[in-house]
Formats: sequence, structure tokens, C-alpha cells
Amino acid sequence: MDPSLTDSWRALQGHAASFDDLDLRRLFDDDPGRVDRMTLTVADLTVDLSKHRVSAAVLDDLIALANEVGLADRFAAMIAGERINSTEDRAVLHTALRAPVGSEVLEDGENVVPAVHEVLSRMGAFADRVRSGDWVGATGAPIETVINIGIGGSDLGPVMAYEALAAFRHERIRCRFVSNVDGSDLIAAVGDLDPATTLFVISSKTFTTQETLTNARSARAWLTASLGADAVATHFVAVSTNAAEVAAFGIDTDNMFGFWDWVGGRYSMDSAIGLSLMIAIGPDAFDEMLAGFRAVDKHMAATPIAENAPALLGLIEVWYRTFCDLPSRAVLPYSRALHRFPAYLQQLDMESNGKRVRIDGEPVNYETGPVIWGEPGTNGQHSFHQLLHQGSTVIPADFIVFGAPDHAEFEGADTHHDLLVANCFAQSQALAFGRTAEEVAETEADPLLVSHRTFPGNRPSTTIMAPALTPSVLGQLVALYEHQVFTQGVVWGLNSFDQWGVELGKVLASAIVGELTNTDTPDLRHDASTNALIERYRSMRGR
Ligand code: F6P
Repeated sequence: MDPSLTDSWRALQGHAASFDDLDLRRLFDDDPGRVDRMTLTVADLTVDLSKHRVSAAVLDDLIALANEVGLADRFAAMIAGERINSTEDRAVLHTALRAPVGSEVLEDGENVVPAVHEVLSRMGAFADRVRSGDWVGATGAPIETVINIGIGGSDLGPVMAYEALAAFRHERIRCRFVSNVDGSDLIAAVGDLDPATTLFVISSKTFTTQETLTNARSARAWLTASLGADAVATHFVAVSTNAAEVAAFGIDTDNMFGFWDWVGGRYSMDSAIGLSLMIAIGPDAFDEMLAGFRAVDKHMAATPIAENAPALLGLIEVWYRTFCDLPSRAVLPYSRALHRFPAYLQQLDMESNGKRVRIDGEPVNYETGPVIWGEPGTNGQHSFHQLLHQGSTVIPADFIVFGAPDHAEFEGADTHHDLLVANCFAQSQALAFGRTAEEVAETEADPLLVSHRTFPGNRPSTTIMAPALTPSVLGQLVALYEHQVFTQGVVWGLNSFDQWGVELGKVLASAIVGELTNTDTPDLRHDASTNALIERYRSMRGR
């Protein structure tokens, strides 16, 4: 279906023609009830949408658009196990990963929930053994370091959550994450370690990803050089959907934790891909995280669109990206613990909706997925916030902030947290309401400086607040964004669950690596630039 043919789409184009007139100062002045009406509560999250440049008429038409494209039916189809990932002929059932024991989610006529919980309880038993010291390595020593080797969805979720939940980690066990095929990633992770106390978790949905397998082979060589080949049995476990490749690598499939082709890589942090996280925070905290996901799933499924936080977040993003031509969105957690959250969201959003053809194969004639980027505050304030406030492009921002700090008590801790939160609120206020030339002129006599010191304001943002960054709240946050991304994909008519755009580079790299290493001079048949780069590299390496 072409969404641009709907009535609501045309109405939104009409509203967008006067986007410049949607002024946040006026919207607030004209409507004292705006903040109450546009602040939503989802489980522990408070989502303040009031600082968005949307009028009641824009919101009505966005909601009408969601209805015209069948958002609610599409979500119902996804959670019911329909094969909505049509280009890969797969169901999309990450919501089943957090379905409660005893519930039913059918995929191809079979209830997947018992298998989900069977894997969760095997993960729990294994995590408990590692945590208690009962799982020992080849020398009989307990594990002290868990190294997750994986990339993309097999890395970004676990590392983001491990960092976010630092306050909940086991005292003895630390995790490290190796993703890049750049050898310095592996070296940095194992350089100071004792192989006897190191456990590798090889995480790969396909178990064919070049970077992960290269790192896994080098890790195995590092381990076996000091402990011998038999040590692989107790120092390597796998998380994958591909038992045959896991066995071919030399990992006993008894030490494999499975998942299913209906879990997309970027939607997999609450599957067995979360094993290293579960070892760090324990099965109970992991379970609390799943409950957090589940609370937002329920909200998404059961709440009318006008009060549905993920749906409205998605619709507002569509408004900015497609109708108002704003190319990017900043994600600004005021929490050091969430320092990998923007990177996590980059894959979730950009790999899902970075598409230029619709499900029906037709090219879109409108803008789709935005560029997602960001850094924790307050650091960003001293680098790129200048552009957010006074740059020539409007960049909507997501502020994420917590009532309580996530670090241990120390003298002055409250001062730090109060300052952190004050800065977060100040940034969204300054972005939204700015400082007019008249206001600046009250204290600045030089007209030139008045111009430089004026803040245009009218720069929109969402503020998401929760009492504290707990496992449950982290699950809620991730599910909120998963369903926001889903909403955008449905409106744009995309398949948000494939990623064909990553294929070409993989194929070309496989060919080029042979040309870089060939002992004979290769017959290069690329474009002139690529040929010259290959030749230059070969000469640098003396080949
Ligand atoms: O190349 C992209 C991608 O397929 C991602 O979608 C995925 O998360 C990542 O690679 C890793 O894949 P795997 O878990 O199969 O190693």
C-alpha cells in the first residue's frame, strides 16, 4: 500500500506547509492543559511529548494516518506470529521472548512459549553455575571474565545493557565485548587475562558472520596455546540458531543456547543473546528486565493510539522526517550508564527503517528512516549542542533522565545528580523556548552580539523520565523504542525486519580480501579507485 495516497497524508502535507508557524511558545501559551494532555505514563516511564511542534490538528491527522495504514492490525499480526517479514518469509516474534510462562504464541501452529522458557531456564542454570563458581575451567579455577564475541545485534544489546545495569553486576565476574574484526578489539579484551579464568560466549544468530568467526578462532588459538585443545569444552559456549555450524566450530551443542529465526538480530537482546548479561546481573534481574519489556508490549497492544506512547513517538518521527524534512534525531541520555544506548538505537532504527522500497517492492516517494545519533549529557552540551541550539537545521532530541542516580553513594553524590538533572531540563527548555532578540537586548547593548546571542528556540524534544535505571526500566525503554520503530515502518510501508543493504559490502569484502593477500599479482577488475586502493595497500604490506 502506498501511504502517500491516503487522505490523512494529504492533510499532513497541508499542515507541513505551515510548519514554521507551529511555534512552541504560542502552543504553550494558548493551551494551559497541553503538558498534562501530552504527558503519557507507560509502566515506570513518563513520556513528555508537549515540547513537540505538533498542534491538535497535526496529531489528529497522524492518528488518522496510523488508522488508515492499519497500525493496530499490523501489530496484532506481528505478535500473533504472522509472517510479516515477507522478504525472508519469517514471523517476527521478539515479543514472545518475554511472554509469561503458560501463555500461548503460535508460530506455524506451534506454541513457542515453552521453548522460550526452556532456554531461559537453561541459561539461568548456567549463569548460576558461573556466578557461584561451580562452573570451572580446565585448571579447576572459577570464571572471572566472560568475553562475548559477536557483532551488530549479537553485541550492541548485551554491551549496552551490561553498561546500563552496572549497579546490578556480580562482584567477581566482569564481562567484556569483542565485536570488531580489527585485531585490537580482541587484544584489548584478552591482553591482561588469565585463560584459566576466562569464558568465551560466541554469539551469532547465523554462526557464519565473518568478523565473529575470525575473532572466535583467534580466541580459541589464544586459549588453547596455554591450556590445550580440551579446554575449549569448558571455556567456550555458543549462542546461535545454527547448531551445525556451532558443532563444526568445535563447541559441544550441549553448551549451546538456542534461539529462532523469528528473532531478528537487533531485536534479540532479551533472547539467549543476553547470556553474558544474565551472567553479570543474574537470572532474577534478567527476569525483571523481561517483565519491563512485557509491560510496554501490553501498553502497545492495548492502548488507543491517542494515548499510546510508542505509537505517538513513531508518528511524531514520521511527521518530522517525512513531512517536515528533518533528517536526524539526537538521543541524549542524561546517564553515563546509558552511554551505549545511542549506538544500540542506531542499529535498531537505522537497520530496520533505512529502506527505500516498500514491502510491495515499489520505491518510496517520501523520506524514511532518520539518522540516529547521540551521546550522554552533560558531555554533549560542551560539543555538539551548539548546533542543536543555533545551527541552521532543526534536530529533534530525546532526553532520557532518572530520578535517582545509578551509582554508589558518596559525599556530594546528590549534588552531582541534581546538577545532571538540572542540565537536562535546562537543555530541553532552551531548545524549545530559546531567547529572543528582545530578551537578549535587555542585557546586551551591542546589536551585533544581540544577533549572535539570540536562540531561535522552537526546537522540539521528548523527555523520558523514570524513577531509576533498573532492569525493568531498561526493558521498558528498549520495548518503547522497538515499538516506535515498528510504528514508523508500518506508516512508511517498509519491511522493518530484513537488512538486505548489508549484503553487497559482505560479498565485495570476501572478494577483495583474496586480492589483498594473493601472493601473485591479482587481476583487478574493480573501478579505478578501488583498484588503486588495493594496489596501494599491497605495496604498503610489501606484497
Ligand atoms: O550484517 C548485519 C547483521 O546481519 C545484523 O543484522 C546482525 O545483528 C549482525 O549482522 C550479526 O549477525 P549474527 O548474529 O548472525 O552474527
